Amino acid sequence: MCGIVGYIGDGGARKIIIDGLKRLEYRGYDSAGIALLSEGRIKLRKAAGRIANLEKILENAPVDGHAGIGHTRWATHGAPSDENAHPHTNGDGSIAIVHNGIIENYQELKEWLVREHGITFRSETDSEVVAHLIGVFYKGNLLDAVYDAAAKMRGAYAISAVAAAEPDRIVALRKDAPLIAGIGDGCNFLASDIPALLKYVRTIYLIENNETVLVTQDGITIFNERREKVKRDVFHVSWDADAAEKDGYDHFMLKEIFEQPKGIFETLNRRLDADGRVRLDGISLTKQDLEKIDRVYIVACGTAYHAGLVGKYAIEKFVRIPVEVDVASEFRYREPFVNEKTLLICISQSGETLDTLAALREARAKGARILSVVNVVGSSVARESDDVFYTWAGPEIAVASTKAFTTQLACLYLIALYMGSATGVLPEGEYRRILDELNALPGKLEALLADERTIREVAKKIYKKEQIFFIGRGTDASVALEGSLKLKEISYINSFAIAAGELKHGTIALIEQDTLVVVLATQDRLFEKLLSNIEEVKARGAYVIALAKEGNRKIEKQADDVFYIPACADEVTPVLGVVPLQLLAYHIAKLRGCDIDKPKNLAKSVTVE
Ligand code: AGP
Repeated sequence: MCGIVGYIGDGGARKIIIDGLKRLEYRGYDSAGIALLSEGRIKLRKAAGRIANLEKILENAPVDGHAGIGHTRWATHGAPSDENAHPHTNGDGSIAIVHNGIIENYQELKEWLVREHGITFRSETDSEVVAHLIGVFYKGNLLDAVYDAAAKMRGAYAISAVAAAEPDRIVALRKDAPLIAGIGDGCNFLASDIPALLKYVRTIYLIENNETVLVTQDGITIFNERREKVKRDVFHVSWDADAAEKDGYDHFMLKEIFEQPKGIFETLNRRLDADGRVRLDGISLTKQDLEKIDRVYIVACGTAYHAGLVGKYAIEKFVRIPVEVDVASEFRYREPFVNEKTLLICISQSGETLDTLAALREARAKGARILSVVNVVGSSVARESDDVFYTWAGPEIAVASTKAFTTQLACLYLIALYMGSATGVLPEGEYRRILDELNALPGKLEALLADERTIREVAKKIYKKEQIFFIGRGTDASVALEGSLKLKEISYINSFAIAAGELKHGTIALIEQDTLVVVLATQDRLFEKLLSNIEEVKARGAYVIALAKEGNRKIEKQADDVFYIPACADEVTPVLGVVPLQLLAYHIAKLRGCDIDKPKNLAKSVTVE
């Protein structure tokens, strides 16, 4: 995901484009750049980091123009850096482009451009190929050159291009990535999404797949694949800018909860081939490598640590190798048994958490092999690991992590399946059974999210509580920790999670009349045990909200309220089970009037020890 903005008018393009990019930062924020057309030249400014960094550069080296294109990046090919930031230009800087999406055949195109045209590449991106291709085909007509370049490119993308020799136009193309054009008064606009333009225009064209747009100061012309003009009705936007950025959701957290089916689908899809085998694509964990490993450590913090706890179950079950899970801040100070035979799995959404990074460095120095599960491409954890298994959650904006957690789980299941199968420990039938369960998850998550109303109603009954307990067994104990963390970080309710069997060893002393206990009972093999735990707390007066699998209706006799997750194998219940807990925390926090996306005392990326 990246964000594109384009503007053409009488002047002042810089401010308008930067304003637009700021509204698109939710689409990615690891680098940004702008190309402005002025006095027959393209003037370029770009910088790694947030748009604020680009603004600083523009303050020190000011440029402006009557037209231009801008970009905010979410890295896919190449780390976030000044060189990899967009816009990219052709060799002599006469063409500039911005790009959102992936050019699948970029390697092949790059080789062709180097071989046939002697082109030197300056970045590690797939996007730079687009600038050179357009440059090679450019014969004085940018529209022609974009069509010629597009005929060579495969993938899902949107691009926008300008040429120094044609300062009166911007050309853009949409192929499976969003693009809109805004109709101004004496000026016109382009963008990846509506929020970028709402400060300036509310009348837009929604560009369809495989359409090319020619934007001048006086008009917007849309062409189809055969280069015929297309007539399009205008679309009037009535929403306010904030709501549009959040796709109509009240908060990023809720939007991100609802993005989980897509995140899981993408994460699985990127790593599974047509035969259902896990594709390692560049990760070197051969059978021989795995045979050398006698111990796995998983280190992470917060939500990522909870994903690691579930990962332990999967790896130990499918690979039969001992796995230890540690919070990163503890791992490095307890002299763990790490050597060349250790595989260290680091899990981090941001890839910048200092505790996790320090644990990684510690283990690396002792000879461990580092495999990371990371969401942000090119982040420090990703760069310092031997191998990276990316989650495909897309940018996570809300401080409370949701879609990163479930996509981390998907990665850990895939790693466990791969290791189990490569070592011959996991029988093929079991591999297929788990694979089918994983592939069914996006659909089941959709079904689960459709029932949000039930959770909202329960939240209304309990949002004034000041203490909540979460209990569960097996992987439900790990999900209980995550449910409890979600609740405390956004609602500030004192919540506590404990393995259900451990309750009687002390904590049960705190259960009294009307104490709220959330009981996770999603696993068939442990279901009866949890029914007994419900009896224990009910006997002391607790109010029980239970989480169970569809079909296990027996629980309704004991619990006061029940949420159901769709039927699935016990191994994958955490992916479904966490969702009602995320929603419960969200609705409770909302009813309590909390600042959900930016809770007090917290930061999205914790880069201090
Ligand atoms: C989760 O909701 C938290 N905000 C926090 O626990 C987070 O998961 C933790 O700080 C680790 O972050 P990372 O995944 O970016 O490394």
